[in-house]
Amino acid sequence: MTTSTSSSADGLWHHLRLVPELAVLDQPLADGDAACIVVQDGAVQWTGPEASVPAAYAQLPRHDGRGALVTPGLVDCHTHLVYGGLRANEFAMRLAGATYEEVAKAGGGIVSSVRATREASEDELFALAAPRLQSLLDEGVCAIEIKSGYGLALEHERKQLRVARRLGEAFGVTVRTTFLGAHALPPEYAGKPGGSQDYTDLVCNEMLPALTAEGLVDAVDVFCERIAFTLAETEQVFQAAQKLGIPVKLHAEQLSDMGGSALAARYGALSCDHIEHLSADGIAAMKAAGTVAVLLPGAYYTLRDTHLPPIAQLRAAGVPMAVSTDHNPGTSPALSLLLMANMACTLFRLTVPEALAGITTHAARALGLQDSHGLIASGRPANFVLWPLADAAELAYWFGHKPACTIVRQGRIHGVQP
Ligand code: NIG
Ligand code: FE
Repeated sequence: MTTSTSSSADGLWHHLRLVPELAVLDQPLADGDAACIVVQDGAVQWTGPEASVPAAYAQLPRHDGRGALVTPGLVDCHTHLVYGGLRANEFAMRLAGATYEEVAKAGGGIVSSVRATREASEDELFALAAPRLQSLLDEGVCAIEIKSGYGLALEHERKQLRVARRLGEAFGVTVRTTFLGAHALPPEYAGKPGGSQDYTDLVCNEMLPALTAEGLVDAVDVFCERIAFTLAETEQVFQAAQKLGIPVKLHAEQLSDMGGSALAARYGALSCDHIEHLSADGIAAMKAAGTVAVLLPGAYYTLRDTHLPPIAQLRAAGVPMAVSTDHNPGTSPALSLLLMANMACTLFRLTVPEALAGITTHAARALGLQDSHGLIASGRPANFVLWPLADAAELAYWFGHKPACTIVRQGRIHGVQP
């Protein structure tokens, strides 16, 4: 399962409709003008009205967009895509009334994925993750974050992160890896006096430096929660990351207000994610630090949460909001970023333009990719999607429907041929 059948996207893409907020044009469009995108050497060289295409590009091979709507390639900025086993049994437990915390305490939850992930080989994990990734890519995802956090021991965290890197190469997609060693207490530390501190020390002093030296870590994340790591342990991990020059992000205020977001903002976090219980102080700190709020409606939905993230306050404060699948086997077995956009609108009351920015520009920023992804503009790698849709609102309107799109990813054409 590779991208070997794709063809080059170099040439002049014409007869397109752009979403104005998601593109920076070299020449403005007048009302009713069709847009063009010039791609050369896998990068966008020029965008603007067909009538103004510079002479130097006029002879390039043409790709007729037939009036398609064009967006930047989508960005899924929070996933746990690489894991062994499944947790469909927990779905049944929760339907019978158990909470996420009760499932975790009964030996299920993250720790059950840890067992299965440790048992799987690197090749097995790759084979399991590949169709999940393909499903996201088929819907226009051009950059994706993949976390570790189901290994919880050096060799197994390494295995997950190596699979993430291999997926990026095999599928021709931008992958940002995140080390989430502090996701849960591994079974061999659980119930031991000082176990949580000992494991945090291991994460900071051994796992993170070793994996960073191997080039496997683009960012560091922690699950800061009463069933996971404390604020002090979180800060210890952030300090270790800071020492190595690795940016941080946080699973913050998902089940309770721990003050994690304000702490993360103090460390210049790329993003704080979940944030259902985010406080006014947390919002102010995130705004000041330029930290992105990553909304994860899939987990909210699965857990039948009723505590909404403070959307109106985030909007009023001007904190950029991203939307992601949080794909994971426990709380969000979601393989559609467009469905998450729909749910962000319906459940969280985002506007359609907010949801679209949430799966493109703001999601890119949550990964530190704001200069290369999430916006159509000259000088960036060619990542964009042609949608057979009349109105951009349809991207958030339909659900359970994968539009037959043409995807230009890393300068190669995938999906429906234009
Ligand atoms: O983002 N909140 C913690 N981590 C994951 C859930 C992981 C799991 O249950 O396996 C999340 O929702
Ligand atoms: Fe998560």
